[in-house]
Amino acid sequence: MTNISVVGLGPVGLCSAVAFATQGHRVIGFDIDTSRRDQVSRGEPPFYEKGIREALRKVLRAKRFSVVDTMDAAIEPAAVVFLCVGTPSREDGSMDDGGLRAATKSIAAAWRDGKRRTVVVKSTVLPGTTDNVVRPILEASGRPFRLGVNPEFLREGRALEDALRPDRVVLGADGPETARILKSLYRSAKCPVLATDLKTAEAVKYATNSFLATKVAFADELANLCDALGVSYDEVHKGLGLDSRINPRFLVPGVGFGGSCFPKDVRALVSAGRRHGVEPRLLEAVLAQNEVQYLRAIAFLEEELGDLNGKRIAILGLAFKGDTDDIRETRAFPIARSLLSKGALVVGYDPLAGPAFSKVVPEVKVVDSVKEALAGADGTILQGDWPAFSRLTAKDFMTMMATPVVVDGRRILDPKKMRGVRFHRIG
Ligand code: UGA
Repeated sequence: MTNISVVGLGPVGLCSAVAFATQGHRVIGFDIDTSRRDQVSRGEPPFYEKGIREALRKVLRAKRFSVVDTMDAAIEPAAVVFLCVGTPSREDGSMDDGGLRAATKSIAAAWRDGKRRTVVVKSTVLPGTTDNVVRPILEASGRPFRLGVNPEFLREGRALEDALRPDRVVLGADGPETARILKSLYRSAKCPVLATDLKTAEAVKYATNSFLATKVAFADELANLCDALGVSYDEVHKGLGLDSRINPRFLVPGVGFGGSCFPKDVRALVSAGRRHGVEPRLLEAVLAQNEVQYLRAIAFLEEELGDLNGKRIAILGLAFKGDTDDIRETRAFPIARSLLSKGALVVGYDPLAGPAFSKVVPEVKVVDSVKEALAGADGTILQGDWPAFSRLTAKDFMTMMATPVVVDGRRILDPKKMRGVRFHRIG
């Protein structure tokens, strides 16, 4: 059992904290956002994540997890401190390490005793950041510390499950003692554990997200090509995925990738490459391809409906994917803006993300159900892969919509069951 403190209670911080507490560690959480602290300590997760509410309440009740109001109270009992603050994109795509600097300074200021602690960066940071940003701040404080990097591979919507049952653990350490401490935290993990230096662990995270984003962009482009060449993507996908060097996962084409990670991390790596004299042409192409992929969905609508001016178009799924309320970089933004610029009346529905979406694009009429969204619609784009959307039938579209023009932007419907619907999907 280790005393762990987690700084930053966003999805990564909170899910990691709850997972560590569930596995028997004593965990303290801190966030600079007062209302977030209050919510979490009341057992109310500030975001939607499957299973987190029950798991959070359980560890709060068992007193394995508690939230404190000051950094001092977070640092004092901790043997290991996890930094889980955001590293967003700047205007130019580079990584903004402002939050990480501020949090590290605040940890250093709260570290009043001479106890040696292990500070672990879980935030996604470019290779070299822990050594160049976190280390000097801790060194200047004169406190005895060890440094680690433990990237997260949590998928939103399944973050708790991924935190509890990771498929691999990467532990970057500044020396053997840190590696030993970090390994002890993951003793119950039934998966490969890779021990590296700090920079390598940081790089593995970017390598993973860049590769996955590349796979998706490749699938999107391949599906576009299959359409043009009159070949079924389904069959090509099957054949492609059977190659054990490739595997079929993350090759589902659609309207492109969104979210808080792929776009930001690929941009940050591109920007870092340029700063270091490498032109990352492939990754630039991945971003460029992703920027325009949604246009295929708009083109299908225009093919069916002609001029979209005055047409009522429903977007189903406003978050960047199903099972989350996160709208960051959702493809619903460019889709909605493009439709609005063409004069369409845009209606949107999402089981969770409606209110957040309408704050950003208030011109979209956000409604409370699929039925309301489809009522009288001339066309619809399925942008989110919510299970409820995949249960929609041809009859639903034909009875609810003015004209049953359906663009499946996430490949969740079976075209064979869409008889009577003017059905399109990419590939
Ligand atoms: C991603 C990674 O999958 C996680 O491993 C990683 O920890 C996380 O980023 C992160 O860095 O924090 P996430 O952003 O939650 O997780 O979402 P994904 O499920 O990976 O989907 C990303 C986007 O790609 C979504 O818009 C999704 O619809 C799209 N996608 C995914 C496709 O279009 N096709 C696919 O085959 C897979």
